[in-house]
Amino acid sequence: GADAFVPSGKVPRAFTTLSSTTVKISEVPTTPIPGMKPGTSGLRKKVEVWQGKTGEKYYVENFIQSLLDTASASNGGRVPETIIVAGDGRYFNDEAIQIICCVLAANGVKDIRVPVAGIMSTPAVSAAIRASPDIKGGIILTASHNPGGPGEDFGIKYNLEYGQPAGEDFTDELYERSTRIQSFKTLEGAVDIDLNAKVGTQIHLTPSSVVTIIDPFEDYVNVLKKCFDFPAMSAFGKRPEFSLLFDGMHGAGGPFARRVLVEELGLDESCLFRCNPLPDFGKGHPDPNLTYAAELVKKMGLLPDGSADPNVDLKQLPTLGAANDGDGDRNLIAGAGCFVTPSDSLAIICDNWSAIPHFAGGPKGVARSMPSSAALDVVAEALGIPCFSTPTGWKFFGNLMSSKELFGKTDYTPFLCGEESFGTGSDHIREKDGLWAALAWVSILMAANKDTPQGQPLVSVRDIVTRHWAKYGRHFYCRYDYEGVDSNDANSVMDLIRSEFVAGEIADNGDIQLVSGEEFSYTDPVDFSTASKQGLILNFTYPNGDPARVVFRLSGTGSAGATIRVYLEKYEKDIEKHGESAPVALKNLANRAIELVQLQKLTGCDAPTVIT
Ligand code: G6P
Ligand code: ZN
Repeated sequence: GADAFVPSGKVPRAFTTLSSTTVKISEVPTTPIPGMKPGTSGLRKKVEVWQGKTGEKYYVENFIQSLLDTASASNGGRVPETIIVAGDGRYFNDEAIQIICCVLAANGVKDIRVPVAGIMSTPAVSAAIRASPDIKGGIILTASHNPGGPGEDFGIKYNLEYGQPAGEDFTDELYERSTRIQSFKTLEGAVDIDLNAKVGTQIHLTPSSVVTIIDPFEDYVNVLKKCFDFPAMSAFGKRPEFSLLFDGMHGAGGPFARRVLVEELGLDESCLFRCNPLPDFGKGHPDPNLTYAAELVKKMGLLPDGSADPNVDLKQLPTLGAANDGDGDRNLIAGAGCFVTPSDSLAIICDNWSAIPHFAGGPKGVARSMPSSAALDVVAEALGIPCFSTPTGWKFFGNLMSSKELFGKTDYTPFLCGEESFGTGSDHIREKDGLWAALAWVSILMAANKDTPQGQPLVSVRDIVTRHWAKYGRHFYCRYDYEGVDSNDANSVMDLIRSEFVAGEIADNGDIQLVSGEEFSYTDPVDFSTASKQGLILNFTYPNGDPARVVFRLSGTGSAGATIRVYLEKYEKDIEKHGESAPVALKNLANRAIELVQLQKLTGCDAPTVIT
């Protein structure tokens, strides 16, 4: 299980223990199970549903058979030969891997690759798929930042051959197949794959199908080494003025942080916090935001609203704090007494591209999800590069990256992108990457301090952020989440916005004045596919003429009920006002918007459950 995860991050290498299980393939009759429609990032359900404890037999088998049939259909009717199966280590990870391997083997998948302990971060899976031309897809067992353990979430998503999450054409077809499935193939009799076997161990499930235990780290670390200057970071990490605190939140990112930060860069072991994967994430909610990464937030001298705690001596704190989510693709970045919003982090990385070797020559293009702030846009404009605004979901960035259509026939088209939902990354893989974001910030700090004499205090994260605002203005930003809302109530809020403020005439003379409303839809500039109903935008103007915006969107990643997200943003040029805390600066705007859309009345929610 996850507890046995190789603690050092180095994987023992010994080839090749052969153990063979001779089992018979059987075709098992089944019936369709409703509700297998993948959301923003795979299918997520309470773990008991996947375990078949809620009455639906063969939940995993039905889903995987439908997935495999979809993958085969898009592969000329042939089952993909090589597939990687890995998870974030949450409760049911190991059992699910065993079930999935049986279904894959019975369907004729020849080469199944499973990491040691069954654990790999999402970015590492993406890197591994891209590193081997043989690997045609990756089945990733995760519900990302949702809690794990009995009563909590489990999920499965599928990544395609460039390492990117399957698009809606794939997931729609998968769903459609799940509604008419009649049987699945599996292996008869007990199959027990030892997930803690050494790298290179092969387990023959059928005469033509073998599971190989692989090193989770190698391909990913190689990719990071190309993105960043490891020797220089390692030297910078030895400066006594620098320290880092990395919160793995007991997810899959922890062992990768250990491998990179401690074993590759030589930072002290004490920089790792909660970096051992646990099936229930230590009963935590593995989402790196101000609410759920409360411990790290406190250790970085911050109050829960993200402002600096006036009673803490910032000089005693780590230079940089970073947290990852359950599957290691999200990130939170903080400096001593300074929370960096994901939208600001993205803009600052963009402005400091020269600190990151991967962006040599400057990024050719950048993108953000629509609800993210426009902080990136102003930097892109200054750099004279295109900036795309996409629907929420990392998959929308895939086509833009390295696109010959958009960037011409140059071979090297480094691309930067990110989302307000604590996702940041580039074209080095096809997923967001929590550890990459932390290393980007180490690189930025390193560049900012290249002339800081030894023994002198470093230019801090806070300095970098405030200088950025002084240069470009500040986009005050925060998000209210209303979790556990009745789905019908949530929809009635969205419907009201549509009918009153998008379709209807707006005649508002409130203090913060509503000027227009629109519903976001998107046409991909590369393949011209479209996505509609991707968020409702209300545009406001302050009495002094400053623009502001509030976006309403329903979460696509929950497993029960609905979550309404309210994204608040206000631009402030005046440097004197940059010091205010974001939730305070945005309070009036929030009140105004929430009242306009009658959120309280329609949902019965008096206050958001999370403000981040
Ligand atoms: C996942 C996706 C992200 C997306 C986020 C949105 O983390 O990987 O790309 O931004 O979900 O979540 P939501 O709950 O707002 O739909
Ligand atoms: Zn995640």
